[in-house]
Amino acid sequence: MTAPKYHLTSYGCQMNKLDSELVESRLRQRGYVAAASETDADVVLINTCSVRQHAEDRVWSKLGKLRIRKRGEPQLVVGVLGCMAQEHKRYLVSRMPHVDLVVGPSAFGDIDDTVEKARAKNQQLATGRDPARTKHEVVGAGVVAVDQGVSGDLIRRDVRVRPHRSQAFVSVMRGCNMPCTYCIVPTTRGDEVSRPIADIVEEAQRLCDDGVTEITLLGQTVNAYGRDLTGQGATLARLLRELHGIPALRRLAFITSHPNFLSAELVDAIAELPKVARYLHLPAQSGSNPVLKAMRRGYTVERYLARIEQLRQKAPDVELHSDFIVGYPGETAADFDQTVAFLRTVGFAQSYVFKYSPRPGTIAAELPDDVPDAEKERRNAVLLAAQEELTLAKNRALVGTTAEVLVEGDSKVAGRFSGRTAHHRLVHFAATDRELFGQYVPVRVTEALAHSCVGELLAHDAAQEGRADPAEAQRA
Ligand code: 5AD
Ligand code: SF4
Repeated sequence: MTAPKYHLTSYGCQMNKLDSELVESRLRQRGYVAAASETDADVVLINTCSVRQHAEDRVWSKLGKLRIRKRGEPQLVVGVLGCMAQEHKRYLVSRMPHVDLVVGPSAFGDIDDTVEKARAKNQQLATGRDPARTKHEVVGAGVVAVDQGVSGDLIRRDVRVRPHRSQAFVSVMRGCNMPCTYCIVPTTRGDEVSRPIADIVEEAQRLCDDGVTEITLLGQTVNAYGRDLTGQGATLARLLRELHGIPALRRLAFITSHPNFLSAELVDAIAELPKVARYLHLPAQSGSNPVLKAMRRGYTVERYLARIEQLRQKAPDVELHSDFIVGYPGETAADFDQTVAFLRTVGFAQSYVFKYSPRPGTIAAELPDDVPDAEKERRNAVLLAAQEELTLAKNRALVGTTAEVLVEGDSKVAGRFSGRTAHHRLVHFAATDRELFGQYVPVRVTEALAHSCVGELLAHDAAQEGRADPAEAQRA
């Protein structure tokens, strides 16, 4: 019998991408193989995101197409995973009979069992047998496993399943306890749950034993890590110090931080630990105090600036990245102008800008969405242009300097590779030796672009990169 084939599409944040890796690793352990394309798959899974309407719309439209496909292929298994599964479980179960699995973000640990049950049920349906007589749980649309409280992190991770050989994400906490009025994440992902330091260090060690040299720690408010582990003294700073001791590890990053938890202890760790990435993703969301207050972010512009001042004094080389929401209910043109001024004052190296999207069930969704879409669009474009100007200026300042680049893979331009510096800057350079993927190489920056730099690869000592004699490597 040929192995069943799955296809998994992932939307949304890094946390979702990591969850998708976990799902894939469960399916592969169960004998499934990745399909060459979605049309070729026996099991189609979508790991979804609810943070903005646009992300959800893409999934609804995909589900519409799968409904048509399934008319001709009744044995096809369709699964909705992640935040939309959590948020829309009732609708999916009652109104979308072609969806077999609805699996919330905390129930991925036994996803392989859930998929197997759905396959068995669909095969029986396709052969005209009554699935109700099987011992499988059949609820509404099919086999449903919503939020059974099984955290994926409780499952020992198969470190071999990951997209990059040198880079890996490690989840250090799930959920979010913050009261941001616009955000659906606390609803879909639940309360903060931190993993014990020892578990994280053990997973990181196994990843490094398998060739990983760059780890990015993930949490919705990653610098609040540990506050639910009372009495254990677990903080992000302590975790960074422990992980820093793994000899094979060369870079250690963490996303996403909340301004309220940028403690002096964390600033010291960032300043003192050379392996810690030289960027901090510290979303401000707005540069206007009334808007920050309405969003219940828990800080003012002045407090944000004071916090980063401490960081800049101790670790002046660390660059700041932000997220901004434009067109929050009640945001005036003057509020927005303050956000533009704030972005320039801080001098962010990179920002993601989002048009406010009301999420049903959040506090902000009760307010009138009173900034017209055309105006949101204008603010979005203005803020992005201001950021591009800043990024370009920073990139220009790098021309002529040399940076250590971790090579990630082919660039979009043929004959070029791309990688990132310790500051998370994207650098493209001409190269052909694919043995360089996953290696750290010196690149001299020759040209600055709005979102990246172009550079030239300098000769380097490959032996130092954990690779023996280059001639040997070429023969191999
Ligand atoms: N509308 C627009 N952007 C949002 N974000 C979160 N919720 C919303 C929303 N309702 C943005 C925030 C957050 C990022 C991940 O998504 O900027 O930092
Ligand atoms: Fe959402 Fe705020 Fe939590 Fe970030 S900190 S995930 S914006 S509630």
